[in-house]
Amino acid sequence: MIRYFISVFLTLYVSYLALVIRLKSKIMKYLTSLLLFICLLASQGIAQTTITLHADEGEYTISRHIYGHFSEHLGHCIYGGFYVGEDNKMIPNQRGIRTDVVNALKELEIPNLRWPGGCFADTYHWKDGIGPKSDRPKIVNTWWGGVTEDNSFGTHEFLDLCEQLGTEPFISGNVGSGTVQELSDWVQYINFNGESPMSELRKTNGREEPWKVKYWGVGNEAWGCGGNMRVEHYVDVYRKYATFMNARWGDERIFRIASGPSDDNYHWTEVLMRDIPHQLMQGIGMHHYSVINWNKKSSATEFSEEEYAVTMQKAYDMERIIRGHSAVMDQYDADRRVALVVDEWGGWYDVEPGTNPGFLFQQNTMRDAMIAGMTLNIFNNHADRVRMANLAQTVNVLQAVVLTDGEKMLLTPTYYVMDMYKAHHDATLIPAKIHTVDYTLEGKSIPAVSVSASKKENGTLTISLVNVDSRSAQPVSIDLRGMHAQGVQGQILQAAKLQAHNTFDQPEGVHPANYNGAKLDGDQITLTMPPFSVIVLSVR
Ligand code: AHR
Repeated sequence: MIRYFISVFLTLYVSYLALVIRLKSKIMKYLTSLLLFICLLASQGIAQTTITLHADEGEYTISRHIYGHFSEHLGHCIYGGFYVGEDNKMIPNQRGIRTDVVNALKELEIPNLRWPGGCFADTYHWKDGIGPKSDRPKIVNTWWGGVTEDNSFGTHEFLDLCEQLGTEPFISGNVGSGTVQELSDWVQYINFNGESPMSELRKTNGREEPWKVKYWGVGNEAWGCGGNMRVEHYVDVYRKYATFMNARWGDERIFRIASGPSDDNYHWTEVLMRDIPHQLMQGIGMHHYSVINWNKKSSATEFSEEEYAVTMQKAYDMERIIRGHSAVMDQYDADRRVALVVDEWGGWYDVEPGTNPGFLFQQNTMRDAMIAGMTLNIFNNHADRVRMANLAQTVNVLQAVVLTDGEKMLLTPTYYVMDMYKAHHDATLIPAKIHTVDYTLEGKSIPAVSVSASKKENGTLTISLVNVDSRSAQPVSIDLRGMHAQGVQGQILQAAKLQAHNTFDQPEGVHPANYNGAKLDGDQITLTMPPFSVIVLSVR
């Protein structure tokens, strides 16, 4: 603080000299320049970003479900990514599910996995994907590349995957081209304990016990690939579907998520909140991708600094969009019973050269790490309303955490951010006040540094910091209140280039490292964040 005042004083003093004396004498010119130089030097070590944390004032829990993932029948997400078939002798698997991918995701402790789409969900008829594989019909995946879908990965395989991962399934029901009966049967097939045609069918197919799946989406992007509906029509459709999706076990009942708005379509949210009885709707989905321009995206790896900045501005829009939807929801639901579920988010670029344009396979660089870090900070800070989110998509599609090529697998920079942030799962949100400088490029500005903080039951405080500035390091000072900190340690993800990424030949190019650059002095933590870096601190 004292250094801050000294710097301000010196700067004002020099300005005064410059104004009053107007630098007439040569000596004054030299003196002024010298003082200015000293001021600049002094300000180098002075925090441009100051953060205040009241470690004893947490009110909301950061649901671990904010760290959810999404797996669609799209490109090589399911086939080749998660599932390689029971007969595959080259790639280690359990009942066809890749062991390497499962192990990597178990390390992330992923809380939920959304399936089977996306747009695919509204073309998916679940009965095509059960029973003997040789009897399952082959269909065309009309949304994604027009390839043949042999239905060898269906309900049992997906729920086996979730059990192997130790994660909760989130199933998106077909509203666009399905029927109320079909979706209601699916819920019964999966969840019903007693005797019914659907539970008997499940048992015939080898599963005695119900799976008790809690999270169900009622259609996907009803405003687009899910049926091009008007929200005024969708609300009635939703009410009908939701009425017949019934299941409860013990005190638990299913959690139904309406197909919500795209980006900042607040009207969509308003009509859902107004016209759907809230006992029928536990969550509203919302999709927002960080895309420069839908008609002219950028290369995933060969992008310019300007394209980086615009992508970050699009990612930062998430803050405004969540605030907007939360404000609308607050008007109808002051107690915040209905969750905002950001069930698709991430960066969207051109596909890798030479790959099927319908497969959405893209590389993943430090730019993606910045999107992930900043977006997860935004979600954490809105934990009162945002209680679930799903990065699009887990393996080989869009902003993936894992990429595969035959038997090879690599972890992306986004994977490491998810890993560094996992201490936030189900921890208490500690509200953070931040003053930072702007990162300005292409005439637009966003805050350079973002932060979120949480406290675990054992008292450990986690502080995640992201500096999106592509050029400048950021000195940061954190004022810790309500806690007697004993020590701080951390991890950092940084690289020499924004475009840095991992390849199958060099899978460890971008990797987090231990970070000892944070200094604890009483109740102050100071550190300097390198340009485009993510730092997660653990304070005891
Ligand atoms: O994630 C890819 C696609 O993006 C999904 O299928 C769809 O819901 C969204 O438009």
